[in-house]
Amino acid sequence: MSHIIAPSILSADFGNLSRDIGMINNSEADWFHVDIMDGVFVPNISFGFPVMQVLKKLANKYLDVHLMIVDPDRYITKFAETGATGLTVHYEACTHLHRTLQAIKAAGMKAGVALNPHTPVSLLSDIATDIDMVCIMSVNPGFGGQSFIENTYRKIEQLDALRKQSGSNLLIEIDGGVNTDNARKLIDAGADILVAGNTVFSASDPSAMITVLKNV
Ligand code: DX5
Ligand code: ZN
Repeated sequence: MSHIIAPSILSADFGNLSRDIGMINNSEADWFHVDIMDGVFVPNISFGFPVMQVLKKLANKYLDVHLMIVDPDRYITKFAETGATGLTVHYEACTHLHRTLQAIKAAGMKAGVALNPHTPVSLLSDIATDIDMVCIMSVNPGFGGQSFIENTYRKIEQLDALRKQSGSNLLIEIDGGVNTDNARKLIDAGADILVAGNTVFSASDPSAMITVLKNV
């Protein structure tokens, strides 16, 4: 399988959101990455259900929703109703992660777990076969346009080993600071999905940049 490119709409121009959604629809991107921030789990607030409704209406690709919120269980049904294909919760925000993942799947979505940069991959060893995707945060969550944390390569290799050892089919997503310099190396280390916000939307031709990332 060729790797998946998931542009993050956090870096889109919200004054021209339908244009930017159309650009992604017509590009070689595979998914939309949708960052939901509550101002509590992370020191920033992004957007919520009104934007989800717009995406549900206009986006014609997989909606990869990344919840950077406390108590995500409260909103699982609502994200399913507003079009999320996959729902990712943070390991650090879930006391009963196994239960949360089952609830996400019962609502008809793929279940993802995100790990902050300080959270070791080994904490997922007893739950690996219950997870559809692990999002390794390669920046501290909260903002687009931050610098990539180099320790990420080591975590990808550890997670790749863990999934092989456990027989899990989980996909590995990398989120934060992905660019044309590190994309190939991330794939070679074992990543399946690359999220890219700033790299795509600060490019003079965002669609051409998606093609570059897809073909690294
Ligand atoms: C960060 C978000 C990312 C962000 C990535 O908290 O989870 O998805 O949009 O943006 P870039 O690619 O600009 O680092
Ligand atoms: Zn994200």
